[in-house]
Amino acid sequence: MSTAPRDTALWHPFADMFQVKSSQFCVSKADGVWIYDQEGRRYLDGTASLWYANVGHGRTEIVEAAAAQMRELESYFVFNDFTNPPAEALADRLSQLAPMDGAKIFLTTGGGESIDTAAKLARQYWAQRGQPQRTHILSRGNAYHGTNGMGTSIGGIEVNQAGFGQLVPEVGRVAHDDAEGLREAIDQLGADRVAAFFAEPVMGAGGLYPPEPGYLEAVAKICAEHDILFVADAVICGFGRVGTWFGVERWGLQPDMITFAKGVTSGYLPLGGVVIAERVAEPFWNHPGRPFRHGATYSGHPTVAAAALANLDILEREKLLQRADELERPLHDALQQLADHPAVAEVRGGTGLLGAVELAPEVLAADPGAVGRAQTAIRDLGVIVRPLGKALAVSPPLIISESEIDLIGKAMQEGLDALV
Ligand SMILES: Cc1ncc(COP(=O)(O)O)c(C=O)c1O
Repeated sequence: MSTAPRDTALWHPFADMFQVKSSQFCVSKADGVWIYDQEGRRYLDGTASLWYANVGHGRTEIVEAAAAQMRELESYFVFNDFTNPPAEALADRLSQLAPMDGAKIFLTTGGGESIDTAAKLARQYWAQRGQPQRTHILSRGNAYHGTNGMGTSIGGIEVNQAGFGQLVPEVGRVAHDDAEGLREAIDQLGADRVAAFFAEPVMGAGGLYPPEPGYLEAVAKICAEHDILFVADAVICGFGRVGTWFGVERWGLQPDMITFAKGVTSGYLPLGGVVIAERVAEPFWNHPGRPFRHGATYSGHPTVAAAALANLDILEREKLLQRADELERPLHDALQQLADHPAVAEVRGGTGLLGAVELAPEVLAADPGAVGRAQTAIRDLGVIVRPLGKALAVSPPLIISESEIDLIGKAMQEGLDALV
C-alpha cells in the first residue's frame, strides 16, 4: 500500500510554508565544494551554504578538534569570572588578528546576537560616558543585520519589518550609497543624540552591493568627526570572504566595533561575536562596578571555540584569504559574461568572492517568481545559487577552483536561457 508523502513539521526560516511544507530540498551530505541530496545527486555549493562554508565541507580536522574538546570539557559558561581554555585562546587569537590594537572579544552564537550585543553596548557606552541621550542608531537602506530585535529594527529591507508591531525605537536609516546623506541625518538629529552607525562593508542579503569607491572611508570619517561609534557588520565579509580577516582592512578601516559570525567557524558550529576597540571597552574594563548586563548561555562555548580555532588554522595554513583575492577576478569575469544576457539587468560584484546577477525588469514584470524559477532551474543543472530580491547571488567556498567557477557561470547561463 503506498502512502502519501508526509508534510514536514520543520518551519523553514523566511519560507512560504504553504509551498515548502510538501516540497523540500533535502541536503544529506557534503564534501569540499560539493553537496549531495538524498538520492546521491551532487551539486556545486555556489553559495557556501548561507555565506559561511569558507573552508568548504567535510573538514575532519575541525570535526576532530570539536570531538577532542567535547571529551575534555563539552561545555561550560563564561559568565562572571568563569572561563575555559578554548574561549581564552580564541579571544586572544581574534584580538591579535583584529585591525584595532588591544581589541576585546565578546562571543555570541551568531550574527544577529552579535548585532544586538554591539547595539546595546553602543548605547551603554555613551551612558557610561555621561551622555545617556546618545541612543540613536543609524544604518543603511538595503542593510541586513539579522532577525533578532535590534537587527530587525535597524535592517533596511522593509518587508522584513512589516507586521511585527513596534520595533526598537530611536533608529534611522540613510541611503546605502550616499555618505553625505549620513552627514545630513546626523545634522538633523544632532550628533549628540547619535550612538552609532552600522554598515556592512559589502552589503549582502540586501542585494549584494559592493561599496561605491570612497564610501566606507567617508562614512568612517564622518563618524569620527562627530564622535559617533562606527560599527562594521562583517558577518558575511569576514574570514576571507573579501580577502581579509575582518572584511574592513582593504579599506584601511579601524571601526569601533566589528560584528562577525559565519566564516569564523565556516559554519561547523554556530558562533558569532563582536570585536570591541579599547576605547569602547575602557569604561567597563578600567572602572569597577560597571558590568555589561548582557550575554547568552552559550557565549564562550568551549567546543564551538575549538572548532573556530581549527577553522582559523586551515584559513591560515592554506592561505585562503589570499586565495579569495586571487579568485575575485575569475568569479567576477564569469558573472560578467552574463551581463549581456537578455534576462539580465545588471551584474554586481568584483569585491571579494561575492557576486550577483539581477534579472531584467521585463522578465520580473512578466513573472514575479522568475528569480525563484531561475534558482530552481540552476539547481536542477547541479549548481546552488541564492535568490536575493531581484537577483541571484553566489559566494562559493574559498577553496573553489577556477574550473568550478566556470561551472557556476555555465549553469547560470543555461538557467537564465530558460527565462526568455
Ligand atoms: C551582514 C549580516 N549581519 C547579520 C546577520 C545575521 O546573522 P545570523 O543569521 O547568524 O543571526 C547576517 C546573516 O546573514 C548578515 O548577513
